[in-house]
Amino acid sequence: MIKIPLIKPDLPKLNRIEKDFRRILDSGKISNFGRYLSIFEKELSSYLDTEVSLVSSGTTGLILALQAIGVSLGKKVILPSFTFMATAQAILYAGGEPVFCDIDEDMTLSLRDLEFLLEKHSDIFAVLGVHTFGLPCKVKEINKIVEDFSKRYNRPIHIIYDSAHALGAEFEGKKIGCFGDAEVFSLSVTKPLVSVEGGVVSSKNSKLIKKINNMRNYGIGKNYNTYYPGLNSKMSEFHAIIGLYNLRRFGSLLRQRQTKARYYLDKIKRLTSFEPQKVYSDKIIHTYKDFTILIPKKLKNKRTKIMYFLQNKGIETRTYFYPPLHQQRFFRKFSNRKLPLTEDISQRVITIPFYASINQKEMDYVVKKLKEAERRFL
Ligand SMILES: Cc1ncc(COP(=O)(O)O)c(C=O)c1O
Repeated sequence: MIKIPLIKPDLPKLNRIEKDFRRILDSGKISNFGRYLSIFEKELSSYLDTEVSLVSSGTTGLILALQAIGVSLGKKVILPSFTFMATAQAILYAGGEPVFCDIDEDMTLSLRDLEFLLEKHSDIFAVLGVHTFGLPCKVKEINKIVEDFSKRYNRPIHIIYDSAHALGAEFEGKKIGCFGDAEVFSLSVTKPLVSVEGGVVSSKNSKLIKKINNMRNYGIGKNYNTYYPGLNSKMSEFHAIIGLYNLRRFGSLLRQRQTKARYYLDKIKRLTSFEPQKVYSDKIIHTYKDFTILIPKKLKNKRTKIMYFLQNKGIETRTYFYPPLHQQRFFRKFSNRKLPLTEDISQRVITIPFYASINQKEMDYVVKKLKEAERRFL
């Protein structure tokens, strides 16, 4: 039977990286800010057109970025509830308190609810937007709203973006990576650019990047003296080699994603009543890190059956993101209100297989089975 996995990581063939692996093994320089980390950092910085600091994961990158802007005990940070748990865990690890926000139809931070929360809590310290599945948040509007409240409260309110899904995404011709005080990417195996495990903090603020460079190394500054909070968030040379190799072919990987996503979107829209993630502007580039679609409202309570049907046809699916964070056991205590769109959307999501190397036959098969599921369960 045909088997279509949810994702396939983009990894190099051994012969493409063998020489570099030999080089670090022979020299013994396998970590602690070596040659490959430095080259990867330089090339990534040039690709994103902003400064970057490579770290061991998206999660540690978020923790460090939040601490670097001043998040500490009890500081409130707004984030969407419709995200991966790492976003909220990072706030808690930094000492902060998550304040859950609803989403818009496009599955990114709700502008209306953001305004409501900033009005309700005059002590919000920062806003953490998420470029969900690689669709950029409405960064211009978020910036304007936060700026207006900053003026009103006469103090800065910081903005960080969780860009874990969004390496390669663009907003009105600008690469994601330069918005807010800082942005944080993940380079783990499910992401558009893979370094096996890894993360990137990017920012136009070189002081902040310098600080992160110290924080990722236990907070050590000059003369073996600790200047900042910190942890071991170093990226090894092994990871940097894989990341660098993938960065050098990233243009082609992204183009494949774009072409294939267009094909998938067109077929799903034409042939089924499943609804792809809404894209609010034609001036953005979406990475489709995850290809999440919504079950039509009339089939809402049939999701488990539909997923089971697809599984029996060899198609792997997930429910990203269900349950939403404000309803999860560990985070419930930080929430005391309903988030209507988050709750509706999270009950209707199905993430279907998508990756740069997916082929037309595989996409046709998934769409055909979605159509069959729809007929069967209506
Ligand atoms: C939205 C989001 N933020 C943060 C992370 C954490 O990234 P990492 O797994 O590299 O720690 C992920 C991981 O999938 C994610 O989906």
